[in-house]
Amino acid sequence: MRGWIVCVGLLVLSGIVWVAEALQCEAVPGVLKQIDAGAGRVCGILKEGKVVEFRDGHWVELEASGKHVSVGPAGLWRVGVDGLVFKWFRSGWVQVNPAGNLIQIDAGGDKFVVGCNASHSIFCLNHRPALSYDGTGSVSWMAVPGKLKYYSCGPVGCWGVNQLDEIHVKLGVSGNSCHGPEKWYRIPGSLSMVEVSVDGEVHGVNKHGWVYKRIGVSACNPFGSGWEHLRVAGLSSHVSYDRGALWIICRNGDVQRCSFSEALSFE
Ligand SMILES: *[C@@H]1O[C@H](CO)[C@@H](O)[C@H](O)[C@H]1NC(C)=O
Repeated sequence: MRGWIVCVGLLVLSGIVWVAEALQCEAVPGVLKQIDAGAGRVCGILKEGKVVEFRDGHWVELEASGKHVSVGPAGLWRVGVDGLVFKWFRSGWVQVNPAGNLIQIDAGGDKFVVGCNASHSIFCLNHRPALSYDGTGSVSWMAVPGKLKYYSCGPVGCWGVNQLDEIHVKLGVSGNSCHGPEKWYRIPGSLSMVEVSVDGEVHGVNKHGWVYKRIGVSACNPFGSGWEHLRVAGLSSHVSYDRGALWIICRNGDVQRCSFSEALSFE
């Protein structure tokens, strides 16, 4: 263990090999209020409300303003400042209504889209309309039973938080059946936002600005086994993870891109 800078407290003893996960972060230019990484892309909302995508080390404006943006297997989606929903189709935004006015959206599920409105009703759009809608005609959003202020889906399950910061998970959600079964499973802990990545990792931020990672989430153990507090510098407001990179927005809007590096030591 000597000589290591271990930022993250996960320490697994397996035989004579110590495995530690260290979080290494670097600053990314820009001041953001929300960020979403998925399917190899990273999008966000600048402090002044513009929708941007991270390309080659810069935030490129996507000719729109918004409240929330999400990118993933279902493409690029945003909630406008007025709560209307838009998706990026070919080379521009098309409005995808009616869904009620949303406050949050997530395109990380298996080509379907979910979101919440200001009274915390939950909506979703199956993969067929989510992928094929080109701006003509209408689409049928579905109501998902329950109340959440933030909802995010991945390959194994959908995770959300309600007004009380309680954490709830729904299993059995698919692109054909985005509303899934009625049942919600309560997960111990308290978070004000939670994001499931396209590869199923779960991260969140609590009301104090602490970042957490759910340990041990897999197809065989969809609820995982516990929360790990990630010791990042300062307090955070938002996180999103994709392909090895954890994107963190600090309380002041600064952005950090962090990666987990595994270090091995043989005794
Ligand atoms: C949210 O959706 C529910 C269900 O459709 C609706 O009754 C409610 O008025 C909506 N709230 C807002 C603020 O749009």
